[in-house]
Amino acid sequence: MCGIVGYVGTNKAVPYLIEGLSKLEYRGYDSAGIAVNINKDIQVYKAKGRLKNLEAIIDMDMDSVIGIGHTRWATHGAPSDVNAHPHMNQTRSIAVIHNGIIENYMEIKEWLIHDKQVEFVSETDSEVIAHLIDYYYTGDLLDAVYKAVDRMQGAYAIGVIAKQEPNRLVAVRKDSPLIVGLGEDENFIASDIPALLKYTRNMLLIENDEFVDLTKDKVTIYNSLKQEVTRDVYEVTWDIDSAEKEGFEHFTLKEIFEQPKGVKETLMRRLNADDEIVLEGVNLTSEILKDINKVYIVACGTAYHAGLVGRRAIENFAKIPVECDVASEFRYRDPFVDERTLFIAVSQSGETLDTLQSLREAKRKGARVLSIVNVVGSSVARESDDLLYTWAGPEIGVASTKAYTTQLIAFYMLALHLGRLNGRLDMVRYHETITELKNMPAKLEVVLGQSEKIQKLAASQFNNEKVFFMGRGVDCDLAYEGSLKLKEISYINSFAIAAGELKHGTIALIEDDTFIVALATQNALYDKMLSNIKEVKARGAHVFAIAKAGNDQILKTADEVFFIPDTMDDLAPILAVVPTQLLAYYVSALRGNDVDKPRNLAKSVTVE
Ligand code: M6R
Repeated sequence: MCGIVGYVGTNKAVPYLIEGLSKLEYRGYDSAGIAVNINKDIQVYKAKGRLKNLEAIIDMDMDSVIGIGHTRWATHGAPSDVNAHPHMNQTRSIAVIHNGIIENYMEIKEWLIHDKQVEFVSETDSEVIAHLIDYYYTGDLLDAVYKAVDRMQGAYAIGVIAKQEPNRLVAVRKDSPLIVGLGEDENFIASDIPALLKYTRNMLLIENDEFVDLTKDKVTIYNSLKQEVTRDVYEVTWDIDSAEKEGFEHFTLKEIFEQPKGVKETLMRRLNADDEIVLEGVNLTSEILKDINKVYIVACGTAYHAGLVGRRAIENFAKIPVECDVASEFRYRDPFVDERTLFIAVSQSGETLDTLQSLREAKRKGARVLSIVNVVGSSVARESDDLLYTWAGPEIGVASTKAYTTQLIAFYMLALHLGRLNGRLDMVRYHETITELKNMPAKLEVVLGQSEKIQKLAASQFNNEKVFFMGRGVDCDLAYEGSLKLKEISYINSFAIAAGELKHGTIALIEDDTFIVALATQNALYDKMLSNIKEVKARGAHVFAIAKAGNDQILKTADEVFFIPDTMDDLAPILAVVPTQLLAYYVSALRGNDVDKPRNLAKSVTVE
């Protein structure tokens, strides 16, 4: 998704803008641009494609102490120089960057064209913002932004500079992320923290419908009524190094290898010396739980797949009925949510718009909202009643890897906690599960230690365009995640099925050399999986199976087998997902793809 940065200070602005934009690259983009104010003249530079194309046409030494920058992920209008941001008004006195979508832009555009004779140059929705601000501008940029925003519907994080006010930057936020960085004689805006971490650790997290007025020595936040609001400074404690590659070829690979650490952090921060789960931030009591008769888990993409595993965990350990839905569907199906519902939102970024809007919808209907989120202080986190952070650290690769395994840990802990609260989980099972969860970091190291096996497999299959993932039980949930990972970074048309569904249609597609990833980690379903593998083998498929150590019978059936260390069936996804992540990674790298920033994708999907 689009990323925005802005700088106002005493130093030359351009290096700050370019550095900030480079840290936002992971969000996904197809063009970039900056605007600076030099002696009350706004100069704009934009280029389609990678940031280096923009860098090639600008002078880093430009004499401006204020500027805004943008990476664009095309929605309205193709990726092009002209559609790139910043956008300007006709007299080139105002420059605007925007992340989000202006839903009523057509109506505003028509009014500006027909009634105000404005000529538009781009196909974007965002250009209307520059013309609208210009229309209301009478010398006070903040005032004009208020009036313009009043006419706009949709989602936005906007940064604006005006020629006549060379020391002022104004920003506003609704449903798209916006943070302010506080420096010495300089202040910043950005879409997220990594963009500013090189310059400051002191951030202000801007809320919905808030406006920010920035000069080099002052930042003022206003609410929608133009009343000043105070905000505590959020001090970032994690290190910029955790957002660097540290010798790995790609962030994605580094993040796959960071999973033992993320899992350990997410688990151990919440276990006391007696192995009791202490969920700081979750205020559910047994009294509250008594009134809850249903759980909804809602998320998108990989977070949704973690939710599928979470559903089984809560049903198994706490015996509460759970529904799991993708956020873009949940929002529009008038779900049975009321004050007896526990709504669980799952999100790495905490800014995914569909997830956020589902959360708001659930709240409106009276549900209690608990969220599992990685980014501290994100919108989903702030709008929830109960909060469980996944301590994965910053995830830069667009493909979600360590976020997934830490989300699983959060779900297992929550499920065990709920089971203890409602008395449906016995202590023996509780302690067995906690003990095994504590073994997970070491077992993950064992899995990662076999990465070369997956590399070899990838070398033999990376050109195979016909790939299926199949599994039963929780392995079916995992099949969806494995398939998504492969398709999003390798661009192979893979898909996932419940192995039991094979005979109901999909088997017609199996032919010589179809590549099947068969997940067979569940003891209770192992024999059934062996039969499914035989069925596809009989039709010529090449089968790569993932099974638990000790279940050797599968060696006679599958072509290749990856053994994960033995573990409880419930917890197997934590380990079994890793070979599927490595497979996607190595296939993508062998195909020469941009692994960390796959085409058409954005890290944080802040539009519908
Ligand atoms: O930030 P979120 O966890 O809310 O993001 C949800 C999805 O957009 C995300 O998981 C997406 O599917 C990833 N590209 C998957 O690797």
